[in-house]
Amino acid sequence: MSNASLAKAPQETTVLVTGGAGFIGSHTVVELLERGYNVVVLDDFSNSSPKALDRVREICSLDATDPQLSLIEGSILDRDTVEEAFTRFNIDTIIHFAGFKAVGESVEKPLEYYWNNIAGTLVLANVARAHGCKNIVFSSSATVYGETGKVPFEETDKRESPTNPYGQTKAMLEQILTDLYVSDDEWNVVLLRYFNPIGAHPSGLIGEDPQGIPNNLLPYVAQVAIGTLDEVGVFGDDYPTQDGTGVRDYIHVVDLARGHVAALEWMAAHPSGVEIFNLGTGRGSSVLDVIHSFEKACGHAVPYKIKPRRAGDIAECFASCDKARDELGWVAEYDLDRMCEDSWRWQSMNPHGYDD
Ligand code: UD1
Repeated sequence: MSNASLAKAPQETTVLVTGGAGFIGSHTVVELLERGYNVVVLDDFSNSSPKALDRVREICSLDATDPQLSLIEGSILDRDTVEEAFTRFNIDTIIHFAGFKAVGESVEKPLEYYWNNIAGTLVLANVARAHGCKNIVFSSSATVYGETGKVPFEETDKRESPTNPYGQTKAMLEQILTDLYVSDDEWNVVLLRYFNPIGAHPSGLIGEDPQGIPNNLLPYVAQVAIGTLDEVGVFGDDYPTQDGTGVRDYIHVVDLARGHVAALEWMAAHPSGVEIFNLGTGRGSSVLDVIHSFEKACGHAVPYKIKPRRAGDIAECFASCDKARDELGWVAEYDLDRMCEDSWRWQSMNPHGYDD
């Protein structure tokens, strides 16, 4: 069966967004709806809330029955659920976010991570192919670059073996989707390597809602700022960086979401292949830069304490974004202060995330 064409108006294009209720997924759904795409979210809410989709509708002024946004509740591991999505809707392309994503947990639960992330993607790709949809944008990660010690990371850099099962699943899925294209050149695969997504929609209605104590820096800082947690542990101040703390390429989640729209537009003009794009800002910020920027946003001090380095962390990680700029015509617009302002708005409007 030949591949679905993306060379048509967004209003005539239906995008299946797996994990569309999650942090990056929900922001991407907003950007897609605002550009006129029809969106089918497939989510099992294992690490997200249906309320995120209510908020998406609110942002986009859609009522609950508006056919521009549909929901199929279930897991990508469940073939019947995925079949239902492709049978009920004429899916043109997939943006695939669904997956487990906690690095530490993946070390404890490798089977669950490999099963969910790998087998789930195999089911998804298999069903999609049977329905003549061979267009996929995959949520990859800068983690696939590993510990090369060389920055900025460029798409042409050799992939290093990630140090944890979560990262392994990203690297393996990049390979699996690449092999799929090698076997059948009708596939159109875009691998987006995200750097560190933070921030929230400027409305304050959707944002990151981690379960339990956050692993990542930004939600941790936000919860200290709101008073849920006491102080930020800064993992190491003896790295070879400007202030000794780890440097990362933080990117506003709205910029990242727009990168997905740019990828779809690019795919419409490049109907087959495998292409990798970094989505970052190209700028590195230290842990202390983030804390100080957040202090400006929330208007008070955010207490922190220097702790030992965290195992598996690298000193510096930031992107070369030239390829995305030159080919996708996409650049990140928002700076760190804006990311922290939007993150604080979300946190202060929703101190318990979607649980209020
Ligand atoms: C982590 C994952 C990465 C994943 C990304 C998703 C690891 C090793 N890597 O990236 O695979 O794609 O999240 O966003 O977990 N820090 C503190 N105190 C904290 C938390 C973090 O000082 O409480 C520091 C870290 O040492 C690091 C920086 O903040 O220098 C960013 O950490 P984090 O937000 O966890 O992201 P990454 O480790 O870069």
